[in-house]
Amino acid sequence: MSREKIVAGNWKMNNDSNQTRSLIGDLIKFNQVDATVMIAPAHTNLSIAQDLLSKSKIEVIAQNMHFSDSGAYTGEVSAQMLKSIGINTVIIGHSERRKYFKETDSELKLKVDMGLSSSMKVIFCIGEEIEDRRNNKHFEVIFNQINNSLFHLKDESWRKIVLAYEPVWAIGTGETASLVQIQEMHSMIRKNIADRYSMELANSISILYGGSVKPENSQDIFSLDDVDGGLIGGASLSANDFNKIISSI
Ligand code: PGA
Repeated sequence: MSREKIVAGNWKMNNDSNQTRSLIGDLIKFNQVDATVMIAPAHTNLSIAQDLLSKSKIEVIAQNMHFSDSGAYTGEVSAQMLKSIGINTVIIGHSERRKYFKETDSELKLKVDMGLSSSMKVIFCIGEEIEDRRNNKHFEVIFNQINNSLFHLKDESWRKIVLAYEPVWAIGTGETASLVQIQEMHSMIRKNIADRYSMELANSISILYGGSVKPENSQDIFSLDDVDGGLIGGASLSANDFNKIISSI
């Protein structure tokens, strides 16, 4: 079954407006490939990115949003605000949100629901800490993250869900999970979805890998059976590196 191939660049808290213009200017010089390409600039640069990419197939997506539709949540941004500037996809549950902003599975569940009820696509991140893996708890941790935030969804809602497996110990560390570790986790995730829903649904979900993906390793990672693309942090800040990664899908 053919699944959507996606390469998404998560810029995190990098690039001011000038740097955003310059990086996008470099990105659009490259030929486009037969995959979905996304970039997630900071909220303040989403509109700038949208304008610059209006004629490009690169989709501009958000790194986060709040679970309420509006209200007294100083500093937060709603799904409706994102939609009103043409943003249709949001990353939810990135490990940095879980870790530094204490986002819990139940809060993330509310964010997923808000994203879906706003007709947004959700890239939902999951990933274990190094201690989890050392204690042989990595499969359990990932199952719980999916179960607690996503397994209440009806079958049809999954059409808008993309998963990103990002082992926390591999994010920004230069240390990538091995190909065996990546494939076994991705196939376990697919099996969990098949057990809860159906094989057909499980086989239709794109599962991205993230964690120190770079031009030197992307082709091997993307060629794994259950890997449908990548969520790229550091390497997405270089137009050349990001383009090489995109081309390797
Ligand atoms: P990294 O980040 O590619 O810099 O490891 C990945 C991510 O956090 O999505």
